[in-house]
Amino acid sequence: MAKKIVAGNWKMNKNLQEGIELAQGLKDALAADKPNCEVIICTPFIHLAKVSDLLDHKTIKLGAENCADKASGAYTGEVSAEMVKSTGAEYVILGHSERREYYNETPAILKEKVDLALANGLKVIFCIGESLKQREANEQEAVCKAELEGSVFHLSAEQFANIVIAYEPIWAIGTGKTATAEQAEEIHSYIRSVIAKKYGDKVAADTSILYGGSCKASNAPELFAKPDIDGGLIGGASLKVADFKGIIDAWK
Ligand code: 13P
Repeated sequence: MAKKIVAGNWKMNKNLQEGIELAQGLKDALAADKPNCEVIICTPFIHLAKVSDLLDHKTIKLGAENCADKASGAYTGEVSAEMVKSTGAEYVILGHSERREYYNETPAILKEKVDLALANGLKVIFCIGESLKQREANEQEAVCKAELEGSVFHLSAEQFANIVIAYEPIWAIGTGKTATAEQAEEIHSYIRSVIAKKYGDKVAADTSILYGGSCKASNAPELFAKPDIDGGLIGGASLKVADFKGIIDAWK
């Protein structure tokens, strides 16, 4: 059975002090009221070491939002998978549509990042999802399949066990426009079938497939009730303890 997960993606928000305050607030809230799912917070690089020190990693796992496509060396400004791992982080988000679109991350670059992340013992939250134009042309299945084939389907089944998939329709990210639970379930079920074809039914059933895109406490219960939605990757609503906790509580 796939693990149930609620993961936060802070994106480029919160300075160091604000980030520590948010992580501490979430830690306190979940110590008082234990979650019924795995909780992950993915923070900017600068927060990782300090937040790692303050967290109880049994209750809240830590992740980065990106890592380099090179192992080490003269790549000014880059942060390697090994460096991320050394902070105590367990996860890294790769393939987010914002990185694909604004930083020109191609499937080939993402494949390098996935390989380096896994080689350094990180688990990967790998994002896929179609644009509004692609959805209107009914291309969502082809887009998701191609993104999987382009960057993660070269992995062995054993390696693939360290991949969490996040389906994030680009038209729903930060727009307040959520996919309906039915729309999301339809594509999640398709994604699981594609994984089953490649790795078999057991691996597919064990793969967590998260929904992302304007997920909030108000719509999370309906989304998470669907059989192929194993949780959420949360942007805006991960930036306040009460909002994020509200989504975590959808698993209760
Ligand atoms: P929002 O929850 O702000 O729509 O962002 C979703 C997302 O991109 C998470 O990675």
